[in-house]
Amino acid sequence: MVKQIEEAAGLLAARRKAVALTGAGISVESGIPPFRGREGLWEKYDPEEYAHIDAFRANPAKVWEMQAQFLEVIDRALPNDAHLALARLESMGILATVITQNVDGLHQLAGNTDVVEFHGNNRRLICLSCRRYFPVARAREQMPPLCDCGAVLKPDAVFFGEPIPRDALLRSHVAAQSCQVMLVIGTSAVVEPAASIPLVAKRAGVAIIEINPEPTGLTNSIADYFLQGKAGEILPRLVELVQAERGRDNI
Ligand code: OAD
Repeated sequence: MVKQIEEAAGLLAARRKAVALTGAGISVESGIPPFRGREGLWEKYDPEEYAHIDAFRANPAKVWEMQAQFLEVIDRALPNDAHLALARLESMGILATVITQNVDGLHQLAGNTDVVEFHGNNRRLICLSCRRYFPVARAREQMPPLCDCGAVLKPDAVFFGEPIPRDALLRSHVAAQSCQVMLVIGTSAVVEPAASIPLVAKRAGVAIIEINPEPTGLTNSIADYFLQGKAGEILPRLVELVQAERGRDNI
């Protein structure tokens, strides 16, 4: 592991242009539960009933029971050491873009400036009837939150059965193919099309560094480096090593 992290840091320091793909795991240390696994949200709630667009259309008030709790957790969450390490990697001129499946807005709060929100954002609400957007505050005033036209508002996150925003899809493919290193952090890599982004990068000759406490389907197939552990512990260490490596280059 020591050798792996040192080599990964060397790669980042030498190749310079990196992109990160993040999943729920990076926000676990901010107190936001992941979707899968023992403490996962989908253990408690059936996504077909609480996160599918058909469920929302059929019974929005029921979907809001779970979404309101999720919003409350997101509202309280702050960026953790992993988010901050990625912001530092951007300020060092190495990390160009973060592609995130998360809807919590924590990468932007940490300071990353080019964030592709692949699954939308929960801090905004949308009316599916008249396509108007509202700040999430409306969900604190009224439950379920209503548009001025009377329709129930939906979090502006991608639900199952909904397409990925076109712009996010395009930007993430361009980013994946135009970098030299991709960091894949805290994702089980089972939900498409996000799960294929590392493959798109790999096919373009990009080196893949995976960070996760558990191996995933990517670990033994396309990851060049697997740094096993929590993102909040591994990423700050990795960025420190990159900094040291670059310091040596400048002597
Ligand atoms: P998952 O919940 O599927 O996976 C979370 C991953 O994070 C797992 O591989 C964990 O091992 C890892 N993990 C847990 N704690 C960690 C930590 N401290 N540091 C780093 N990694 C950690 O989450 P996603 O892969 O993001 O989509 O899920 C993808 C999509 O499925 C979500 O965007 C959401 C969900 O259904 C929609 O709702 C459309």
